[in-house]
Amino acid sequence: MLRFITSAGLIIVHLTQATPVSRSQYLTNSPAAFPASALDKRVDDKPIPLKRDESGGIFTVDMVIDGILLPLHVDTGSSQLWAAHESCQSCQDAHMVVIDTPLPDGCVGEEKIQYAAGTLSGCLTNTSVSLGQYSVENLTILLATNISKEVAANGDLYSGTLGLADDKLTNSNTSTFVSALYAAKQISEPEMGFYLPGGNATDDQGQMVFGNPSDSQHATSNEPVNLERARPEDGVYVVNLTEVSVGGESVAAQQIAVLDTGSIGIGIPSSISEDIFDKVYGDTTEDHGGRKVDCQSPANTGNDISLDFHFKDKTFSVKYEELVSKPEDDGTCWALIGTYDGVEEADEKWVLGEAFLHRVYHTVNFKTGAVKLYDLEDN
Ligand SMILES: *[C@@H]1O[C@H](CO)[C@@H](O)[C@H](O)[C@H]1NC(C)=O
Ligand SMILES: *[C@@H]1O[C@H](CO)[C@@H](O)[C@H](O)[C@H]1NC(C)=O
Ligand SMILES: *[C@@H]1O[C@H](CO)[C@@H](O)[C@H](O)[C@H]1NC(C)=O
Ligand SMILES: *[C@@H]1O[C@H](CO)[C@@H](O)[C@H](O)[C@H]1NC(C)=O
Ligand SMILES: *[C@@H]1O[C@H](CO)[C@@H](O)[C@H](O)[C@H]1NC(C)=O
Ligand SMILES: *[C@@H]1O[C@H](CO)[C@@H](O)[C@H](O)[C@H]1NC(C)=O
Repeated sequence: MLRFITSAGLIIVHLTQATPVSRSQYLTNSPAAFPASALDKRVDDKPIPLKRDESGGIFTVDMVIDGILLPLHVDTGSSQLWAAHESCQSCQDAHMVVIDTPLPDGCVGEEKIQYAAGTLSGCLTNTSVSLGQYSVENLTILLATNISKEVAANGDLYSGTLGLADDKLTNSNTSTFVSALYAAKQISEPEMGFYLPGGNATDDQGQMVFGNPSDSQHATSNEPVNLERARPEDGVYVVNLTEVSVGGESVAAQQIAVLDTGSIGIGIPSSISEDIFDKVYGDTTEDHGGRKVDCQSPANTGNDISLDFHFKDKTFSVKYEELVSKPEDDGTCWALIGTYDGVEEADEKWVLGEAFLHRVYHTVNFKTGAVKLYDLEDN
């Protein structure tokens, strides 16, 4: 959801938000449309390789849509699968791979997706979508016929988005790709696991697993922390965050956090942001909507400062070096912590993107919204 978009050397903090849905949609919690199946564990729930971009933080997966192979952004912060369509000039200009599925009659770009990092429009159609061994014949997808410049800025990285949150956040209130796989019994549990390494990992080590993700080689055998969805009305992976501290000092308690593979950084509520910026980064310079900070932990904040996230009785620490971007040419770095003032509702929540998620192996359940956080094996 929260995205730090790099364009022309700028990093701007934005919040990506799925299409607003009416309140009534929230009231009914998805009925058990899919009976709890008693499938055996499938031996073939193999990890799916993910690619990470060079500057770090954006993960993509190669998928085949209506016969065309294209990279899609892996996003647990939204639900609608979209792909660039050949009629989309802005997609072509952004060097996206485009698909040639016929547009439905009378398509005028009436379907919209609103991310804080931009918007796009297009039309819905049903077509085949596959990813390795997994395949859906008739998935409702959005053919993008126009994208805004914020979306176009990542055109070299991806040509569409694989939304992995709740079905109810799809434009047609139907199925996400994984939910359709589950309904077709191609995966045994409505769960996905993510290994999203940052730092020194090479850009091809990320992994996503559908179905039975818990026994990943990347997760320790320690018990994970199990978190229920904190706001049943939300369609994203939103959990209670017990406490956050910097250098052992509490800076926030009883918070709400959204886990989001589609974000690069860490979004914090603006009401407490100045205090946290100060404690973590010391002096910062506002620059084009982002913040320039020292690439190394400044002396006045302590040498081994970290941002510590406490979930129930477990703590995951993110070190200073993980809270800054790769250095710019002038030797300064961008803060990977940001706020998203002015974006409705979002301002009270934390958004935990890659800067946090690479510290854990995590699984999400796309029927219940439950999340499990595991320590990493090689930690
Ligand atoms: C979305 O679909 C669910 C289940 O099919 C249904 O219960 C709900 O009413 C739908 N919501 C809207 C806004 O149509
Ligand atoms: C897609 O399929 C659904 C049924 O699965 C149908 O209701 C819908 O009209 C179809 N949409 C298009 C654009 O063909
Ligand atoms: C796909 O959906 C269309 C209409 O929505 C239907 O006619 C067709 O039988 C479906 N195909 C499959 C393989 O389910
Ligand atoms: C595409 O969207 C942009 C806004 O992002 C708008 O200014 C432009 O007019 C649209 N182009 C078309 C062809 O609809
Ligand atoms: C990357 O590797 C260097 C040298 O081995 C090490 O000092 C540094 O802490 C590593 N960075 C991360 C984020 O793991
Ligand atoms: C989240 O925390 C609130 C209190 O801050 C509590 O009332 C609620 O039950 C918790 N929800 C879950 C799912 O743990």
